[in-house]
Amino acid sequence: MASRRPIVSDPLPAWLARSPRSRAARRIAVQPPVDFPARLSPTSGMAKKTQDFVCQGCGATYTRWQGKCDACGEWNTIAEEGTATERILSAGPGRPPRKGKPFALQPLAGEQREAPRIASGNGEFDRVAGGGLVPGSVLLVGGDPGIGKSTLLIQIAGALAGAGHRSVYITGEESVAQVRLRAERLGLTALPVELAAETSVEDIIATLSQGKIPRLVVIDSIQTMWTDMVESAPGTVTQVRASAQLLIRFAKRAGSAVILVGHVTKDGQIAGPRVVEHMVDAVLSFEGEGGHHFRILRAAKNRFGATDEIGVFEMTGGGLAEVANPSAIFLSERELGAPGTVVFAGMEGTRPLLVEFQALVAPTSLGTPRRAVVGWDPARLAMVLAVLEAHCGVKLGGYDVYLNVAGGLRIQEPAADLAAAAALVSSLAKTPLPADAVLFGEVSLSGAVRPVAHAPARLKEARKLGFGRAVVPEATRGAEQDGLSLAPVATLADLVARILPGERGGRREGRAAAPAARPGGGGPG
Ligand code: TYD
Ligand code: MG
Repeated sequence: MASRRPIVSDPLPAWLARSPRSRAARRIAVQPPVDFPARLSPTSGMAKKTQDFVCQGCGATYTRWQGKCDACGEWNTIAEEGTATERILSAGPGRPPRKGKPFALQPLAGEQREAPRIASGNGEFDRVAGGGLVPGSVLLVGGDPGIGKSTLLIQIAGALAGAGHRSVYITGEESVAQVRLRAERLGLTALPVELAAETSVEDIIATLSQGKIPRLVVIDSIQTMWTDMVESAPGTVTQVRASAQLLIRFAKRAGSAVILVGHVTKDGQIAGPRVVEHMVDAVLSFEGEGGHHFRILRAAKNRFGATDEIGVFEMTGGGLAEVANPSAIFLSERELGAPGTVVFAGMEGTRPLLVEFQALVAPTSLGTPRRAVVGWDPARLAMVLAVLEAHCGVKLGGYDVYLNVAGGLRIQEPAADLAAAAALVSSLAKTPLPADAVLFGEVSLSGAVRPVAHAPARLKEARKLGFGRAVVPEATRGAEQDGLSLAPVATLADLVARILPGERGGRREGRAAAPAARPGGGGPG
């Protein structure tokens, strides 16, 4: 049947024409043949003034207001905007659509060149960016207000200017005097960064196009920018998107690397950076916990590099300092010998990272016990709890469970399952684990401990930081390092039996199973 269908179809396909009584056939038959999108058709060239309701979080549009955005699930983010996207997208009032010019298509094989990079000299930033800034690329750096985005980027602009590149910092949030004040605090005033407090994208592009093309342009922030192209107020999705589009076009044309700052907002007052995420080459998020000095730069998307690298900084009186050895920092405030704390040997991109997992398991006074997680995936906690219950006889139904990753780090690896489980059991049993042990391993739903990638790198880092033993998946046996002994476990029940010796295989429930605290000893290995 299918082979008899015409390849170039008439307005009415032959198979429909043969059954004129079908409703679909009649509906299709009255449609005129469509040659080009209605938006570009000569008759609709006039920009139509319409009102749209646009989600300020993700940019989804609706024809009428509603409380919840169906696209991103946020509440109260939809606001009315006079849409002007029509004007950008259409060929202009009354102008016929441009005739396309044919271009040559290329084979897959051929000359290829690594994108050249401009290293900023800031090792942590360059690593996350994929080895430096790519000329003509556009980066979006998102993060909560006050997290340190402006501080980081004026430092990067300073570093590039110091290396002899033209680097321009445009602020739409602060005055020139405020930026100067910060630069003074950071000791950057001697560097030839060119500065302006401007918000009109047309003026900015006109200025940047004069003289030598800048290597780096920082726009702080994209939400304060506006363009004459569209009529909406600054900060709306339409403005943010149109401004970003113009700046991206400038970057590609001029070959400058452009960094856009975007605030993450919850209240929907100004458009979130999510609306430009798909337009830029890389999206970096700058994160940190309120009470901590550590800041983590993480790539969420990168067309020119890996997305699992992180950069670690410390906010000091003199700006953001690179943290070259994050494991040492994350473990510096460890409480040795406390039940419920273990050290996880993790990986962030190509770099091993040791971090402390802390658990508190306490009898609940509520009908439904609480499960609270900071820095780890709640779904994985639920899974580990289920496996502990189903395969290890550790019942935590009557207990509140709190799990925290120290230092404000967010761990995403499944390799942390074993460490989380050990912290939970250690807290429940009030038994501290040996202070010189690290753990890693993925726990499967059957209770088996599965191997994880980069075991040698994890062990080497543990060795470097003075750890003496490692609890690892069975498959990692044999990867011993000098001075580091391995304690392979095949199943989660094995690990539980080592933390709670003498109770192997027995059902244990909560407090009844918890032996008295035995400081310092009896743990794995
Ligand atoms: P900022 O870069 O203005 O944040 P953002 O641009 O993301 O809104 O950083 C503001 C915070 O950083 C502010 O709370 C003060 C702190 N800070 C320092 O601790 N040390 C410094 O040297 C600087 C410049 C800022
Ligand atoms: Mg700022």
